[in-house]
Amino acid sequence: MKRIINTLIMAAVGTMFLVACDDPQSPGLEYMPDMYRSPAIETYVDYEFPDSATARLAPVGSIPRGYKPYPYANTNEGYEMAGQQLSNPLVLTEKTIKEGQKLYTSFCAHCHGKKGLGKGSIKNAIYGAVPSYADKTPNRRGDRSMSELEEGHLYHAIMYGLNAMGPHSSLIRESDRWKIVAYVQTIQGKDPLAKKTEEPLAENAE
Ligand code: HEC
Repeated sequence: MKRIINTLIMAAVGTMFLVACDDPQSPGLEYMPDMYRSPAIETYVDYEFPDSATARLAPVGSIPRGYKPYPYANTNEGYEMAGQQLSNPLVLTEKTIKEGQKLYTSFCAHCHGKKGLGKGSIKNAIYGAVPSYADKTPNRRGDRSMSELEEGHLYHAIMYGLNAMGPHSSLIRESDRWKIVAYVQTIQGKDPLAKKTEEPLAENAE
C-alpha cells in the first residue's frame, strides 16, 4: 500500500514538472504578480493616448521651475530695447573679467578669435566675415560700430546669435553670459569696472 502511494506521489510530481515546462512563455504560478508586473505606465509604450506616447508633453505655456523669461524678442526692436534697458547685474571685479575671458575662450574664441578681432581658428567660408569687437566702422546691422555696442546688445547677441552665429542661451548660464559681456567690453576698449551696480545678481556669490 505504501509503495502504491509513493508511486502515485512520484507520478504527480513528475506530471507537475512536465506541465510546468509545457509553455516556455508562461511564468507558471506567480506569487504576488504585482511585484513582477508594475501597474505603473511604462514611459514610451502604447497606452490609451491616441499618439501612444505615455510621456506627455507639458501643457502649452508651462515654464520650467526656476526659468527666467527673457523679455526681448529676436527682432531689431528687441535688440534695440535690450541695448537700452539691460545692464550687467554682476558686481564686477578683476576676477569676474578673468572668468569672462576664460568663458570667452571656451565659447567664442574659435570664431571671434582669441583677441576678439574676428580671426578665429574656424576656417569655413561662412565664418569668414566674423567682425572684430574693436571695429569702429558700422556693423552689419548698419546703425553702429561693433565697438559702440552696449552691454545689452552684447547680451542679446549671446542669447539669440546672429545669422551664422547660433544662439548660446542654452549653453551658457545667465551669470556667465554677463561675465563674457564684461570681458568683450574690454576688447571694445571700454572699462566695465568703472561702472557700479546696486543690485547684484544672486548668482554672483558663487
Ligand atoms: C560659430 C561661430 C561663432 C561663435 C561660436 C560665436 N560667434 Fe559671435 N558672431 C559670429 C558671426 C559670423 C557674427 C557676424 C554675424 C553677422 O553680422 O551676420 C557674429 C557676431 C557677433 C556679435 C555682433 C552682433 C551685432 O549686434 O552686430 C557679437 C556681439 C558676438 N558675435 C558675440 C559673441 C559672443 C560673446 C560669443 C561667445 C559667447 C560668440 N559671439 C560666439 C560667429 C560666432
